[in-house]
Amino acid sequence: MNSSNFSQLGIRISLEAESLLNSRQDKEDIVKRLLNSGKVFVDLTDIENEIAGTPDLIRNTDVQDSQELQPVSLNNPSNSNTEVRSQDFFHPAAKEYSSDFKIVHSREVTGKSRTTGSADDFVAYFRNRYERLARILRLGRSNLPLIDLVNIKKFVNQEVRVIVMVIEVAKTKKGNILVTAEDLSGSFKIVFSHGGQGRDNEKLFENAGRILVDDVISISGKVLEPYIIAKEFEWPDIPITHQRKFAENDVSAVYLSDIHFGSRYFLDKYFELFVDWLQGKGEASDIAGKVKYIFISGDIVDGIGIYPNQEKELIIKDVFKQYELFRDFVEQVPDYIEIFVCPGNHDAVRRGEPMPALGKEFVGDRVNSLGNPSTLIVEGVKHVMYHGTSIDSLIATLPNCSYNHPEKVMVEYLRRRHLSTIYGGNPIVPEKVDYMVLEEEPDVLHCGHVHKNGYTQYRGTLLINSGTFQDRTEFQIKQGHVPTPCLIPVCDLKTGKLRTLDFKSS
Ligand SMILES: [Fe+2]
Ligand SMILES: [Fe+2]
Repeated sequence: MNSSNFSQLGIRISLEAESLLNSRQDKEDIVKRLLNSGKVFVDLTDIENEIAGTPDLIRNTDVQDSQELQPVSLNNPSNSNTEVRSQDFFHPAAKEYSSDFKIVHSREVTGKSRTTGSADDFVAYFRNRYERLARILRLGRSNLPLIDLVNIKKFVNQEVRVIVMVIEVAKTKKGNILVTAEDLSGSFKIVFSHGGQGRDNEKLFENAGRILVDDVISISGKVLEPYIIAKEFEWPDIPITHQRKFAENDVSAVYLSDIHFGSRYFLDKYFELFVDWLQGKGEASDIAGKVKYIFISGDIVDGIGIYPNQEKELIIKDVFKQYELFRDFVEQVPDYIEIFVCPGNHDAVRRGEPMPALGKEFVGDRVNSLGNPSTLIVEGVKHVMYHGTSIDSLIATLPNCSYNHPEKVMVEYLRRRHLSTIYGGNPIVPEKVDYMVLEEEPDVLHCGHVHKNGYTQYRGTLLINSGTFQDRTEFQIKQGHVPTPCLIPVCDLKTGKLRTLDFKSS
């Protein structure tokens, strides 16, 4: 597929979009979907949106073929995308390797929370977010003068570039988008015009519809007092050149979240099958034998008093006893496997993010207990673990985001280089450092919270939402939310290949 083919189909495509499209094995399918959507001009964001909306398809950057993420049914190998077989004797290859990981302590809040919630703390928090994201945005290509808002009146009738934090987004009577924004020197209003000519303007207006309050963005436009008329804008985003790193050792990682020990909906029978599998007792023990790392991104237990009348949904009403079940699980994990845990909104730490690590009195001595979010480099592969609480507020605010595709929301994290853009959308503690900023590009971003598996790759970062081991609750039935319990993503860190194992079909 090349640009002339597109012309024949009546679609114009930008060069960046074409290059990304040509790198995809599933490009024919993407083109079909674009044709069906009636688009006549396709840019990079369109292609990225299409990829993000294809959660069951991962292109591994060093593997030429796309990989269907059909779950591996542990009792029906013929339907699987991998060889599934039991072995008489379990010889775990991962045991031969010593663990190789480094926790980036500067990227998490554990032991460093100093905020008192004063006005000064809020100012310091937002300033820190702005300065760190602005530093990334300054690297963007532009020939326009980058100016501080305090000086804007010196540039009337000229084109300028500003880096701002969004304070308010409104629609005017004429249907334009009016953004009130500020930098460290002042504030100003920016107009995204609805009635502008040309496809570029249509695209600009469509993208501007996804600008969020508290976003840090770069805007280029003409100063026509009292407004800047926007001609372009960008989020800090992941560079298109970013490439995912892979491990040298032949080891794999299992990604878990939302186990919810203590809940009456916890699917203990299937969880036990998972533990058996880890111990090499089940089918697919060849995959189990390569598991060297387990990541658990929060909601380890169901907790107590998390929502009204929760006690009716608990089988264990003592939070310490809930964590006892977790420690029992840890004891059964083969000792050569390294375990990383961060808390979620159901766990026994403060509710506001960033959350410090769970204490050893809860999770025991063996696991590596980290903050939420946290960054760690495992076998050379940079992982960011974040529970994903802010997925709720992004779904409520952004068009085209839903609980069916959590990975699409996670792409928004990467675009904004921030894990919880809308301040107050979920509880946030204003620390002097904004730990939700994604200063470096992760190779793997691992979330949970929405109890729905979802995967994609965005600009070289693998995004994993690891689902749950909790059955569908009455609340989820009322909400029409259908979780995907007992599906476990397993990533081969050397090849990048991602599989999903289905323990419910066992
Ligand atoms: Fe959960
Ligand atoms: Fe959660």
